[in-house]
Amino acid sequence: MAMEFNWTLGLITFAVVFLLILLRRKPAATGGNRQPPAPPGWPLFGNLFNLGAMPHRTVAGLATEYGPVVRLKLGSVNTVAILSAKAATELFKNHDLVFVERTITETSRSHDYDRSSLALAPYGMYWRVLRKICTVEMLVAKRINESTAVRRRCVDNMLGWIEKEAGLAKIGSGVHVAKFVFLTTFNLLGNLMLSRDLADPDSKLASEFFTAMLGMMEWGGHPNVSDLYPWLKRFDLLGLRGKMDRDMGNALEIATGWVQERVAERRKEAARDDERRKDFLDVLLDYEGTGKEEPEKMSEKDITIFILEIFLAGSETTSSTVEWALSELLRCPEKMARAKNELASVTGPNQKFEESFIDNLPYLQAIIKETLRLHPPIPFLVPRKAGHDTNFMGYHIPKNTQLFVNAWAIGRDPECWENANSFEPERFLGSKVDYKGQHFELIPFGAGRRMCVGVPLAHRVLHLVLGSLLHEFDWELESGVSAESMDMKDKMGITVRKLEPLKAIPSKSKR
Ligand code: HEM
Repeated sequence: MAMEFNWTLGLITFAVVFLLILLRRKPAATGGNRQPPAPPGWPLFGNLFNLGAMPHRTVAGLATEYGPVVRLKLGSVNTVAILSAKAATELFKNHDLVFVERTITETSRSHDYDRSSLALAPYGMYWRVLRKICTVEMLVAKRINESTAVRRRCVDNMLGWIEKEAGLAKIGSGVHVAKFVFLTTFNLLGNLMLSRDLADPDSKLASEFFTAMLGMMEWGGHPNVSDLYPWLKRFDLLGLRGKMDRDMGNALEIATGWVQERVAERRKEAARDDERRKDFLDVLLDYEGTGKEEPEKMSEKDITIFILEIFLAGSETTSSTVEWALSELLRCPEKMARAKNELASVTGPNQKFEESFIDNLPYLQAIIKETLRLHPPIPFLVPRKAGHDTNFMGYHIPKNTQLFVNAWAIGRDPECWENANSFEPERFLGSKVDYKGQHFELIPFGAGRRMCVGVPLAHRVLHLVLGSLLHEFDWELESGVSAESMDMKDKMGITVRKLEPLKAIPSKSKR
């Protein structure tokens, strides 16, 4: 009987596989409705099996066979990927508006996050208002300059933590650099936004908030069946929506408490006429719109979600970039030495590295650019979608097609970059190319209307943190690890970061 059952199962499996092979689609479209070329896919699954664990790499590889604009079917979702600098230029110069809307994932609908988020907001008045608050009030040189001392304090704390940890570590073993950089950027954002020290080990609430935010990053970065087959979303097969509801719920509750506390403080201050440094939360609470099309005030919920968003957008991106930069430098001792010499030449004896030195450090700037070229933390940018049917580079793209702009592939486009796979910061010396959205061969922050609003702050923090780590310490690899054997593989989460976290040995710099 058991034998008979296995045969039946075997036959059914065979028949299904045979049918799938027969049905395996060779996409072809010609004429006026010519769609971008696509690798063959499977019924129901489309090209899901083509993606692998590192989709930015596998999708980049499709350019050789299919060209710079490739069509993919991910579950039931029509997707187009842009894989060359030329195609990105065409997109951002001539089609930015068509692709200005975002794809909304199931986890980002948790607690209606997507309705208050800037990164996911529809292209309309609410988005415009939030974006203006960021670019005119919050993330501008003047306001960023006012908080130089805050960043200095956070970075000094980081240097102290690293020194302490190194003192406790066994001989030959290194410290987990990215852990400290992540905690520092998180704390730094907490100070800029809320004037709160979230790295304070005595604050239970701060540590609960930190844990909840880590959870949100994990669930938000996880591939989700509900996004591939929206009709399955009510089953929440991977349980991601449930986990996101829980962690986002906790984070929102704590952040709402902080917002309410501030509102009460401000009432008292108004009565006392107190002078206090205006942080991001004050800017949001001070906002006054016309009330016609613009909202008159920002609601408590919008403010709280915006606060979570800044943590999500700014902490892991910054820390993974610093980790990659230090890893690349540890593999090239002569580049590390050049960077340290440059730093020593602009800082006085026994002087700390200051943000004001950044403009005089072309090699440090080149290192950050080169790191972001090779390791953009968000390799597909934040996915967009077509607002209506459109024609892009001669291809028909139907409404709602999801768009991946593969910044990782574009940073390696052989038409723009010589020795594209090697880490050569020197390529940027004397070059005008930067990541501010005008040079489409280098777009780690995206470009066009939806480009990252955090660039001015990220620019400061990346240079400050990396510059301080290089200036204060001499770095070595752990015993048993050599520049050649160092693991440089990446892994995909909410950002792409090192699979093997960098462990390196710091010793006080002899300057
Ligand atoms: C190394 C650091 C960072 C990287 C690599 C990065 C990268 C990105 C990318 C690729 C996008 C999508 C752009 C597009 O679709 O064209 C984005 C959007 C965004 N980023 Fe960043 N980011 C970083 C730091 C920050 C920081 C520090 C903040 C806030 C303080 C921030 C806030 C945002 C926001 C709010 C958006 C959404 C903009 C919109 O949709 O209009 N980012 N970022």
